[in-house]
Amino acid sequence: MSGTEILRNDHRQIRRLEKIVIKCYVKLYESKDIPFSDIEIIVLIISEFLDAVHYAREEDQYFPCVATYDSLKQEIRVFMIEHEFGRRIASNISKYLQKWKSGEDQREPVARFLKAYAVYLDEHLTKEDKFFDIAENQVLSQDEEKMMYEEFRAVTAVVTKFDEMIKSIDYLETTPWMKD
Ligand SMILES: [Fe+2]
Ligand SMILES: [Fe+2]
Repeated sequence: MSGTEILRNDHRQIRRLEKIVIKCYVKLYESKDIPFSDIEIIVLIISEFLDAVHYAREEDQYFPCVATYDSLKQEIRVFMIEHEFGRRIASNISKYLQKWKSGEDQREPVARFLKAYAVYLDEHLTKEDKFFDIAENQVLSQDEEKMMYEEFRAVTAVVTKFDEMIKSIDYLETTPWMKD
């Protein structure tokens, strides 16, 4: 396994989340009820998996390693800006969800920001997947790929967190609102 493969696998899991997010906002727009606790799990996966695990892998290890070759710098800059954009959308989902929970009707903004998040994810992941292909085939050495793979797997807390997040995605996929 290589560093790039780990990130591709992260993306496969994030694509599962994307489908859940889409279903969630469609249902909300249809005035169907989704338990707050399930939307909170989505928010948790975004902060604990996307932010704390996946973006950290990209921002702290993968991108800096690619950038040492002086290549793809513009692409990396755009990805960093997009991560910030994604974080802002996520904090809005969380903010309006809290207000909704405390009694104000915030269905519309929660649905709207979930939709924005799904659009962001699709565009961002599609671009990064292409970037991974180039980095893997033209930039990174085998040793670097191996080293990053080992670094990604070395932090037990992160690996545990990853497994927990996959279980949460598994759970969301089995909820009644996801199935009908
Ligand atoms: Fe990214
Ligand atoms: Fe990514």
